[in-house]
Amino acid sequence: MGHPQALQIAIDGPAGAGKSTVARKLADHLGYLYIDTGAMYRASTWLALKNDIALTDGDAIAALASNSNIQLKPADESSDGKIRVFVDGQEITHEIRTQRMSELTAGIAALGKVRVVLVEKQRELAREGFCVIDGRDIGTVVMPDAGLKVFLTASPEERARRRQKELAAQGETPDFEALLKAINERDYLDCNRAVSPLMRAVDAVELITDNMTIDDVVLELERLAKEAFQPSPEPVNPRAQEREATSYQEMPSAQEAST
Ligand code: DC
Repeated sequence: MGHPQALQIAIDGPAGAGKSTVARKLADHLGYLYIDTGAMYRASTWLALKNDIALTDGDAIAALASNSNIQLKPADESSDGKIRVFVDGQEITHEIRTQRMSELTAGIAALGKVRVVLVEKQRELAREGFCVIDGRDIGTVVMPDAGLKVFLTASPEERARRRQKELAAQGETPDFEALLKAINERDYLDCNRAVSPLMRAVDAVELITDNMTIDDVVLELERLAKEAFQPSPEPVNPRAQEREATSYQEMPSAQEAST
């Protein structure tokens, strides 16, 4: 038998475009692994705060992130639909989702050394083969050979409305104008940082989701995934394939393919 077929779906886009909800649902429907890379940057911010490290000290934060076990586990009823995040066994799912953590993490994500460490961890997780992975630089840097690349976006106003709802569900009551300003500031930081700025890959499909529900978006992505994935002659069960570990080791990793 030749190499097993795998589909890696890269979803990039600005804050509040609905990436993580859509990516998680899509992964659930397809039975793929979901990798929320933003959660890994948030976990690194948490590590820096916990260890009293200056948030500008890229070397120290990169070393901490490298030596820590950042685990992503499937969402459950305790986690409001977000994946559960653990650092060295300690659950930080809720702590990393506050508005303050969002703002601080934009700065951490601009540190090149931290990115190198996290990109490596992301590629390691993606070696599974079948995965949905979301972030800002997935289609451009982390997995330039992903079988399907999507750039998910929405207007800043729509994204601020969505964020307001999300924070309200967590008991926060932010002002709309303040949120809009924060979204525009994060967009600016994410798009203008020197390393791996948020950018649409040339071969990504762009979806503007202002007038789409989450389910509309998931349905459209399932359609695109079906188009992108050419199944083997025999029916393929991705999870069963995963257990054929030796076959996967023959596949070039995203990292090797990008170098
Ligand atoms: O998707 P999110 O809001 O959880 O991401 C948190 C921050 O991390 C945000 O400022 C963008 C940044 N990020 C990044 O630079 N690269 C990624 N692959 C994922 C997130």
